[in-house]
Amino acid sequence: MDGRVFALRTRAVRRSFIREILKVTEEPEIISFAGGLPQPDFFPSEEFALAAAKVLRAHGRQVLQYSTTEGYPPLREWVAKRYRARQGIEVDPSEILITNGSQQALDLVGKVFVDKGDLVLIERPGYLGAIQAFSMFEPEFRAVPLLADGIDLAALREAARLPRAKLFYAVPNFGNPSGITYAKEKRAGVAEVLKGSGVVTVEDDPYGELRFIGTELPPIRSFLGGESVLLGSFSKIVAPGIRLGWVCAQADVMEHLVTAKQGTDLHSGYLSQRILFQYLSDNDLDAHIGRIRAAYRAQRDKMVEMLRAHFPPEVSFTEPEGGMFLWLTFPPEVDATELFEAGIRERVAFVPGASFYVDGGGGNTARLNFSNSDLDRIETGMERLARAVRRILDRRSGA
Ligand SMILES: Cc1ncc(COP(=O)(O)O)c(C=O)c1O
Repeated sequence: MDGRVFALRTRAVRRSFIREILKVTEEPEIISFAGGLPQPDFFPSEEFALAAAKVLRAHGRQVLQYSTTEGYPPLREWVAKRYRARQGIEVDPSEILITNGSQQALDLVGKVFVDKGDLVLIERPGYLGAIQAFSMFEPEFRAVPLLADGIDLAALREAARLPRAKLFYAVPNFGNPSGITYAKEKRAGVAEVLKGSGVVTVEDDPYGELRFIGTELPPIRSFLGGESVLLGSFSKIVAPGIRLGWVCAQADVMEHLVTAKQGTDLHSGYLSQRILFQYLSDNDLDAHIGRIRAAYRAQRDKMVEMLRAHFPPEVSFTEPEGGMFLWLTFPPEVDATELFEAGIRERVAFVPGASFYVDGGGGNTARLNFSNSDLDRIETGMERLARAVRRILDRRSGA
């Protein structure tokens, strides 16, 4: 079709580079640290089969019908209760909107808050899916650097003062792609900087429950209250295929989100919500998450061990306390795209970091996923990657 028929906004949005390279990395002989996939061994397929049968047999006609936009009330209550139990924050079930994963929540947040030309402040490096979702609304992005203990508060303060600053998007727990976690003081600091500034904090927390080292930290919302929007997801603690997540927001924001969602899809799949709620009622989710954490910790430890043992000391890396990703920084002369090609020749894949930077740079960085590969594949894959890195470094130094 003639390109002119497409809305101008489509020109600002690129296809996700990650989704593109996943095609290359699907070949079975390639060990892929590229995707952001949870470990499928932990998908509760049997439990879901039982829950589905139970719900369909007992309430078939009801669960196959249209339903409310906000979501299944007992599931919204479950989410609110868990905030109280886990983090001691008071959330009313009316402040929870069930969405098709937190990815849809990002789209709805964009629809509700972002006008063309508004400024979206995003971590540097930042989550590609958020860049993609917000780009549809034609904002300008301003990248705010991440330090080892979270966002650079001075840079955030400066950015928040810019004309048309509208949103600050953050992943404070085991960030995607960085693996970085905001220290408690940083969370309070974000609230201090943004309170009353007119900039809405969008706190995206799909990984918070996957902490395997250290103790849980309060969300930014606990310091900022209703000036923030908090997103959550069942993708990493239950399964991504059910496409269920949520937004936690105060009443006036909720009102707009619900209207936006009505225009998008009326409501999230009611059958999945009912099956999920049945699953949560009949099973011990905490025990399940405990098993996921133990496995991910071992996998993360193996990756770190391999980095220490086989990679040149000038390669630095984050050591996440949870989540699914680890972030590598190579010496400036290493081009991660070239390394990606070398990696594919060695039959190992990762995501070159540049696409997580909205303002250029990051050419010498990479994201590695440790949740989707078992210990043997991590060992072999990291040996292969180390070979590719050494080859590039040797070539650079003319050896
Ligand atoms: C930071 C972040 N936000 C949101 C999502 C989307 O997750 P989902 O839509 O499956 O809840 C992801 C997925 O990887 C993510 O890493």
